[in-house]
Amino acid sequence: MPTVYIKTFGCQMNDYDSGKMRAQLAADGFTPAEEPEDADLVIVNTCSIREKPEQKLHSFLGTVLPQKKVRPVTVAIAGCVAQVSGKELYAKYPKVDLVFGPDAVHRIREMVTESKVRRVLDVDFFGEDTYPFPTDVDPQSDGVAGFVTIQKGCDNKCTFCIVPATRGVEVSRPSGEVLDEVRQLVDRGVTEITLIGQNVNSYGLKATSAGKPEPTFAELLRLVHEVRGVEVIRYTTSHPRDMGEDVVACYRDLPKLADHLHLPVQSGSDRVLRRMKRFYTRDVYLDVVARLRAARPSLALTTDVIVGFPGETDAEFEETMTLLETVRFHGSFSFIFSPRPGTPALRLLDEAVPAGVALERLKRFQALQRTIQLEEHKKLVGETVAVLVDGASAHDEGVVCGRTSSFKTVNFPAVAGVERGRWVNVVVGTAYANTLRGAVG
Ligand code: SAM
Ligand code: SF4
Ligand code: F3S
Repeated sequence: MPTVYIKTFGCQMNDYDSGKMRAQLAADGFTPAEEPEDADLVIVNTCSIREKPEQKLHSFLGTVLPQKKVRPVTVAIAGCVAQVSGKELYAKYPKVDLVFGPDAVHRIREMVTESKVRRVLDVDFFGEDTYPFPTDVDPQSDGVAGFVTIQKGCDNKCTFCIVPATRGVEVSRPSGEVLDEVRQLVDRGVTEITLIGQNVNSYGLKATSAGKPEPTFAELLRLVHEVRGVEVIRYTTSHPRDMGEDVVACYRDLPKLADHLHLPVQSGSDRVLRRMKRFYTRDVYLDVVARLRAARPSLALTTDVIVGFPGETDAEFEETMTLLETVRFHGSFSFIFSPRPGTPALRLLDEAVPAGVALERLKRFQALQRTIQLEEHKKLVGETVAVLVDGASAHDEGVVCGRTSSFKTVNFPAVAGVERGRWVNVVVGTAYANTLRGAVG
């Protein structure tokens, strides 16, 4: 049996695409290998969102390509770096057998076969009307939680972001396919479904790949909510500008909709938001938060923030700090602005924030975030929380790990009968910044 090892960098889209590749390759007899050294086919699924993840491609290839000298192994570069720099990579690494972008994932079997006779380069985008969403389900998706893509690409043009270049125009997946995949995952024991896309709120607003009108995102949430066996619904990522009243109402009406929302804000300064072309202001963002919390008071919010966007002044950075204090996010991903090839923000680089200043801002933001997170977690001490059990903790023997609907990781001593996929009530004993610890109550 041939084996495949897929190294995945980047976001949920890449995780999902890797799953789809595993699924399709399984039809040709490929089984997953534990390590790249054991695999007949090694695929690196790349991310180019910032410079650092992009660099990881080169170090990974540095460990894999030398193996070609001692054994036959097919090496492929997939994903977002392949999409934007495919031709350069193909020329730079003559020993790499395949280079292809996200739009070629559905062709993986054919490309692997073709690579046996010639090298393959496929970085073409599909037309909106013909976009083929692969339907096979990842053989590794027999866990508690599963992702379902509802959309590909992004029609926004945030000035810092390379995704529109790596993933192409936005296409909504037909809702029938989405619901079929949800049902397939439920049949495998998955109870927590995460709908994924770069801007899920705009789902269905344009024609889908099948060219037919589709439900709106709020309507899709309601359809998924009706699927028997689904217990928790999450989605990522939302754009604050598109968080309409119909989606807010879902937090009132749909009990399966998780108590957590990731709503990237990027900056607390109106001028910076304008220069990022995010098309909302701080006040609009705060209004969305207020409406969401009115609909679901227990909602835990997390966010993404970029510090050191070109031209960001000290005072503008402080506005991001005060926004964090005002909203009291339960967590965030924060990054120093990283200039990306071909993005509009490159034109602002003469106002680049010095690296030392940006790093100082990042550290201050992260320290405040940590303090707030810990304070929010401490409020839960003594409370009983419902936890969906994920399995044994990877670090602590005899300890079980699970997650609340609000996306908090909870660890507790194992108890007979508490199995993966079950809900248990846990009394929180200790709060840490990133996790909670308790005991079955
Ligand atoms: N579509 C989502 C949105 O609109 O918020 C997020 C997409 S991106 C995959 C994830 C995060 O990476 C962004 O929210 C942003 O904070 C960060 N990011 C994107 N481009 C970046 C850049 N050039 N430098 C630093 N961070 C960046
Ligand atoms: Fe990038 Fe903006 Fe699209 Fe998100 S919404 S993927 S940040 S262009
Ligand atoms: Fe990276 Fe591509 Fe996702 S650039 S963040 S893997 S869409």
